[in-house]
Amino acid sequence: MAGNKTFTMIKPDAVKAGHIGAILAKINEAGFRIAAMKLTKLSPEKAGEFYEVHKERPFYQELVDFMSSGPIVAAILEKDNAVEDFRTLIGATDPSKAAPGTIRALFATSIGENAIHGADSDENAQREGSFHFAATEMF
Ligand code: RTP
Ligand code: MG
Repeated sequence: MAGNKTFTMIKPDAVKAGHIGAILAKINEAGFRIAAMKLTKLSPEKAGEFYEVHKERPFYQELVDFMSSGPIVAAILEKDNAVEDFRTLIGATDPSKAAPGTIRALFATSIGENAIHGADSDENAQREGSFHFAATEMF
């Protein structure tokens, strides 16, 4: 079963702009099954912990402030080759470089406020999914 799950968050900018439904439709059309999902809000401490890998980057504090600024949708998604296919579906980090039709090309406003997160490896997908969901919330 390795390699068939990824983890995503619809970020506060896209939730605030009312894009949850449209983004979930894109995810559904692309063939992902929802294995876990919740509307939640990260505390600054939790956002800092989630993005700990970026702690030394110049944008870290801005990222933590943004990710804790409002509700997010967290989800675990299932599909063959989930991590790679989902990164293709969301597009480049900088929406001006994201391929046409990708979620970031459609809904992101800047490199910082870029609508959606996608795990970048199977190992991180597993770690990030367990960060947000108990085993009883995964289906
Ligand atoms: P993500 O982890 O959210 O899916 O995004 P990513 O892999 O495409 O990009 P990553 O390098 O992991 O960066 C994490 C998030 O930090 C913010 N960021 N801001 N101001 C900046 O230059 C900058 N660079 C990155 C973005 O929200 C990015 O998604
Ligand atoms: Mg990343």
